[in-house]
Amino acid sequence: MTDSAVEAHFDEVIARHDRIEPRDWMPDAYRRTLVRQIAQHAHSEIIGMQPEGNWISRAPSLRRKAILLAKVQDEAGHGLYLYSAAETLGVSRDELVDNLLTGKQKYSSIFNYPTLSYADVGTIGWLVDGAAICNQVPLCRTSYGPYGRAMIRICKEESFHQRQGYELLMTMMRGTPEQQEMVQESVNRFWWPSLMMFGPPDENSPNSERSMAWGIKRNSNDDLRQKFVDMTVPQADALGICLPDPSLAWNASREHYDFGEPDWDELAAVIRGDGPCNAQRIEHRRRAHEDGAWVREAATAFAAGGEIGD
Ligand code: 3HC
Repeated sequence: MTDSAVEAHFDEVIARHDRIEPRDWMPDAYRRTLVRQIAQHAHSEIIGMQPEGNWISRAPSLRRKAILLAKVQDEAGHGLYLYSAAETLGVSRDELVDNLLTGKQKYSSIFNYPTLSYADVGTIGWLVDGAAICNQVPLCRTSYGPYGRAMIRICKEESFHQRQGYELLMTMMRGTPEQQEMVQESVNRFWWPSLMMFGPPDENSPNSERSMAWGIKRNSNDDLRQKFVDMTVPQADALGICLPDPSLAWNASREHYDFGEPDWDELAAVIRGDGPCNAQRIEHRRRAHEDGAWVREAATAFAAGGEIGD
């Protein structure tokens, strides 16, 4: 096919909302945007293991520990599917890991906040995984095949994560006044950072327009944020929790909840690396990577035909 024919084929696939596959021709900028988004997403899953991993050894019961272990392991799996999807675009895993550790690529702002009580495990499941589901279900229909297929499985697992969080909070809300206070305090800390997960407002989102035209993103940041608020308010009512936003109110004419403005300066600072836990998260990841060097060396030697113990 000629250059113009392959380009026309790409445009036609995008226009009919079909999938682009790794061997198909694609514009360089499309490839770069995908690598950026998929890598950030993979890094988020891997860094996202840390805030909750913090509580595995202090879970209040064997049942809670088993649930949390399974959840944190799922996040590792999500990171691996996503790194594999990014690799189909011609980047190596080493490059991606290096880009995370040197700060060349970002990861989600939400994982730079500390987890201060066990209620945070429930709140992360309910709000953070809830926000992740809102953002990621439309990505099952993203235009790049390997990314969309990875998202289908990830979203199924995220649903379990969200439900375990909600169930934990529901249990605590049926408990003592101290437990109820722990839940409220945790929700107060995580509500606004969860809204920031969807990214800056549409008018300050430099990538959205292009990404939506290419079918990489299917919805804008603000539309998904609104969807999340609409979905979450009735869940908060059922829990008996007060969401920390005095502007939150049903708007009958819009048929949506109105809500207050997140602190966009705070989001910018956290993305820049100045959030409460940015340095700690990267340092921990760097140490884990260095500690795992022997595993990578052994696997490489084994793949090259050596014997373990050579
Ligand atoms: N945290 C960190 N960086 C963010 C951010 C956030 N919450 N929101 C936006 N940004 C960054 C963008 O990456 C972009 O930076 P770059 O141009 O240097 O790459 C810049 O801010 C401007 O934002 P845009 O809105 O223009 O960027 P996008 O169009 O890429 O939209 C996004 C941002 C909505 C996060 C989009 O990339 C996306 O949908 N990504 C896939 C989902 C994802 O990565 N989720 C992360 C959470 S994963 C998770 O929650 C794990 C689960 O187990 C809980």
